[in-house]
Amino acid sequence: MKNMTAKPNEDQPQFIFSPENMEKVKKYIAKYPEGRQASAVIPLLDLGQRQNGGWVSQAVIEEVARLLAMPPMRVHEVAAFYTMFNLKPVGKHHIQLCGTTPCWLRGAADLKTACMDHLKIAEGGVSADGKFSLMEVECLGACVNAPVVQINDDYYEDLSPATFVKLLDELAQGKEVKTGSQIGRQCSSPAQCATTTEAPEAKAPKTPRKKKVKDAE
Ligand code: FES
Repeated sequence: MKNMTAKPNEDQPQFIFSPENMEKVKKYIAKYPEGRQASAVIPLLDLGQRQNGGWVSQAVIEEVARLLAMPPMRVHEVAAFYTMFNLKPVGKHHIQLCGTTPCWLRGAADLKTACMDHLKIAEGGVSADGKFSLMEVECLGACVNAPVVQINDDYYEDLSPATFVKLLDELAQGKEVKTGSQIGRQCSSPAQCATTTEAPEAKAPKTPRKKKVKDAE
């Protein structure tokens, strides 16, 4: 459950979209009919979050509300509903660990424990060096390769505690890390073998042909 809340803070600096992002803002708003510009609230919040270091501050909410002519509370309601929006600062690598049933059955709880022990953080926390933050989320939609973790925009699948910790170390060192399945699985194919492998029983001897009627006579 999401328990992070953005509190109004008058000391926060004003948020303004960069000129480059302002162009994108205009394009998003232009996709909707006159009077329906509020429909652009999610892409604008996403853009604001990316520009603001990975989280939606009160200043971001107020700027999005101003651009869309919405009450700030309505924008806050949207941001507070979706786990894709962070209402407090996150680490450079924001970890969203799936804890829903298929991932849980495949070891998500062990991944979570390994992550918290290794980074010395609790769920919802940020590591002391600011490099990582962790939160548990519901299904990430990649259950076939459970257990799954999303870090920033990338998915890491078929994880074990050992491969997860190795991956975290590599990210901390600024190394390039392989995304997707960590066991070499192709897309979502079976982990053990290809479905087109010929099964042994397929090689069984063919049924003898029926004798010609002439022979029987
Ligand atoms: S249950 Fe984890 S990705 Fe669906």
